[in-house]
Amino acid sequence: MYTKIGSNEPCWCGSGKKYKKCHERFDDKIIGYELKGALVPSRKIIKTKEQVEGIKASAKINMACLDRVAAEIHAGMSTEEIDHIVAETTREMGGIPAPLGYEGFPKSVCTSINDQVCHGIPSPTDILKDGDIINVDCSTILNGYFSDSSRMFCIGEVSPEKQKLVDVTRECVEAGIKAVKPWTFMGDMGHAVHQHALDNGYTVVREIGGHGCGLEFHEDPFVSFVSKPGTEMLMVPGMTFTIEPMVNMGTDKIFVDEENDWTIYTRDGKPSAQWEVQVLVTEDGCELLTW
Ligand code: MF3
Ligand code: CO
Repeated sequence: MYTKIGSNEPCWCGSGKKYKKCHERFDDKIIGYELKGALVPSRKIIKTKEQVEGIKASAKINMACLDRVAAEIHAGMSTEEIDHIVAETTREMGGIPAPLGYEGFPKSVCTSINDQVCHGIPSPTDILKDGDIINVDCSTILNGYFSDSSRMFCIGEVSPEKQKLVDVTRECVEAGIKAVKPWTFMGDMGHAVHQHALDNGYTVVREIGGHGCGLEFHEDPFVSFVSKPGTEMLMVPGMTFTIEPMVNMGTDKIFVDEENDWTIYTRDGKPSAQWEVQVLVTEDGCELLTW
């Protein structure tokens, strides 16, 4: 149940203004949707100006890591070297790599090659080769604020089929970004992502999705990319979450590596691609915090 505060109390957003002169009408609007049966965000996942600034500073480090990976990635390099780049860049800029030690994850970044869907663990024995596609998923903490984004990299000459998968997956994220509008639903966005993948003959992983991100690594809501219009959580200004569909060339079925209990693979061994962007819902759409 979304709750209000007294009209003359200072607003919860930290503006210093009275509630009635600040977010009271905004809160009434949310409660109106809740009364109609919509799933609405809790106050905690609506960020204040100060929190948004903190998340943006974290995102700067996150993007610097991925920019450095982009400049240095090449055939013959191990995924462990990518881990070093991310760990070093993050620390040099005063941040902490969020994956390291997260639920026991052993490295500072996820590196997922070809049929690895996500959560690949960097290793000195995984060497990039000509024709590989790889997702590098970087997550950063700065002063308690979290950022999360990932990019695909094509190593040397990749097949036209793999190139198309990488390009279409990026377009899926762009379709999602266009569908982020306040006072519409997460399901409108998820459906736009899914539809573009389906239009190109691909599938989208159902079990793993995006997430709220900012004050924690993974906050509410869970973000599905196989959802239906008008369903899931209401989007309101101040929410920060990721759009990160995993798009498969073949089946959407996946399995978890039994040995490390982390790495996710496609069940049919066909390639999978993923791009991830973190967005802030604004008054008229969204602002990209990463990419
Ligand atoms: N970065 C991933 C995401 O986008 C989460 C990875 S969890 C980790 O949500 F522990 F593997 F890092
Ligand atoms: Co994420």
